Amino acid sequence: MTLPPTLVPVSSTTRVIACATDEIGEVAADVVASVAPDGVLGVATGSSPLALYAALIRRRAEGLRTEGLRLFALDEYVGLRTDDPRSYAAYVRSVIAEPLGIPVENVRVPHGSTDTDGAAYERLIADAGGVDVQIVGIGRNGHIGFNEPGSDAETRTRVVALDESTRRANAEHFDDDLTQVPTHALTQGVATILSARRIVLVAAGSAKAAALRAALTCPVTADNPASFLQRHPDVTVVADHDALREDR
Ligand code: F6R
Repeated sequence: MTLPPTLVPVSSTTRVIACATDEIGEVAADVVASVAPDGVLGVATGSSPLALYAALIRRRAEGLRTEGLRLFALDEYVGLRTDDPRSYAAYVRSVIAEPLGIPVENVRVPHGSTDTDGAAYERLIADAGGVDVQIVGIGRNGHIGFNEPGSDAETRTRVVALDESTRRANAEHFDDDLTQVPTHALTQGVATILSARRIVLVAAGSAKAAALRAALTCPVTADNPASFLQRHPDVTVVADHDALREDR
């Protein structure tokens, strides 16, 4: 699909692939599969990349070698145990690592409640040689990872307070009870994410349209942390038509 002029990315290093909602997984997997058989894959949680992980799992059944991948998650709630089914550690294990045959020792998820824990996670990423392909989703407020509006380009893995809108968006995983949704998270920073050699952003649905359009076409600003992706040399956006609507 040719993008309308209002949606053409400002950055020449950002490629936008518009597709049907049910094609997002396969299209994104075409990019992400380049990390196999033993690269370092940065993984987002949430609903946006589910079809992408399902596509990778199908490709493994057809012969793609994924067992040697090393995974680094973007973020984790503060205060949840790693065996809590609502934790991102549990998501990464059950949705990505186990079905792709990746052993636990190759899976890293931020954990802890201090910036020292964040610094330790940065060292793990550096020791692995950095991230080859980073998958990100986008929040309705333009967050990437849990870098909420106001997060600047220099940020590294650290503890952040979650926006109320983010907590509301994620309340469905906590019995729709906002009081159960953690207030803080440990997240890779904007600079951490931009250190990846390649970034794939997946987005579906009209709820993401305003944030995505601003990220792609407006000047870079900490008010929309996804806009910092404009500064990265190799970004692929895979989005459905609703997420690329001009009128939202
Ligand atoms: C998840 C993450 C978040 C989500 C974003 C979109 O690890 O870092 O930035 O990608 O909140 O979430 P979904 O895909 O559930 O709409």
